[in-house]
Amino acid sequence: FSEELEIVDNKMGEVQGVPLPEATCEIWEQIYNFQAREDDILISTYPKAGTTWMQEIVDLIMLDGDVKKSMRSPCFVKVPFIELYPKPMPSGVQAANAMESPRLLKTHLPTQLLPPSFWEKNVKVIYVARNMKDCMVSYFHFQRMNQALPHPGTWNEYFSKFTAGNVPWGGWFDHVIGWWKIKDKHQILFVFYEDIIEDPKREIRKISQFLGKELREEVLDTIQHHTSFSTMKENPMTNYSVLPSSVFDQSISPFMRKGKVGDWKNHFLVAQNIVFDEEYQKKMEGIGLNFRTEL
Ligand code: A3P
Repeated sequence: FSEELEIVDNKMGEVQGVPLPEATCEIWEQIYNFQAREDDILISTYPKAGTTWMQEIVDLIMLDGDVKKSMRSPCFVKVPFIELYPKPMPSGVQAANAMESPRLLKTHLPTQLLPPSFWEKNVKVIYVARNMKDCMVSYFHFQRMNQALPHPGTWNEYFSKFTAGNVPWGGWFDHVIGWWKIKDKHQILFVFYEDIIEDPKREIRKISQFLGKELREEVLDTIQHHTSFSTMKENPMTNYSVLPSSVFDQSISPFMRKGKVGDWKNHFLVAQNIVFDEEYQKKMEGIGLNFRTEL
């Protein structure tokens, strides 16, 4: 236990048993009482499922593929992250309140913690889901480089923490299953990271139709190109290079790291994979939610 404490270098709190940054917990009332607007679009994800990618895709759809306009500001400025409070900067709630409609918003909250106003206003939600093994690997590297989150420890330590849901924003199972179960009761488009990798244009078209936009083929092509991994890795508005290394230390691991399906194979030990698959099967049995861990 003392070893565990030593590797935690950033303070986390808890809301209803879900680990969240301490600053988020401090202003939880404000966050939970956030007032959504009918024409908001919410991107909801478990961390590392492809949030930033979806932000760019949706922003470009709303802009009819206008790349220049999409580069007006960094992704984390144009899309407020509602439950984040990156002191001394304004909170996500403040940033969103100051923004003109239509707003594009981001959250990692599990369904039970989402501000009820989103449901009341029947806001359109795009949920991006990514297979748990690749999420774990991506989050491990992200917690290494993001100085605002607890240090992940070694890969072996992280494997236990992540599978137990003992990471910021809580467990993958609760999050993904919660959103999956609620998806038909609201305007929620459930999108898989692996599907976007497989056929980005097909998924971009699906998302634009969900948002009530019919885009020409060449606009879809432009969006696909501008949101490809290699383009976003070079784009200072999407690769987080504008943040100082005291926040994101990209010399440890770049934000735009690999963008692949199946990188878990380079991390999971054979024994870990066996333990994982067994536990995973138990938790996901009967849910009807199937992920691909390779293409
Ligand atoms: P990896 O760490 O596996 O590379 P989030 O935005 O939710 O934090 O997710 C980040 C993950 O999405 C990272 O995964 C990142 O590389 C990947 N990603 C971001 N943009 C992408 C793109 N255009 N294509 C594929 N993957 C992308």
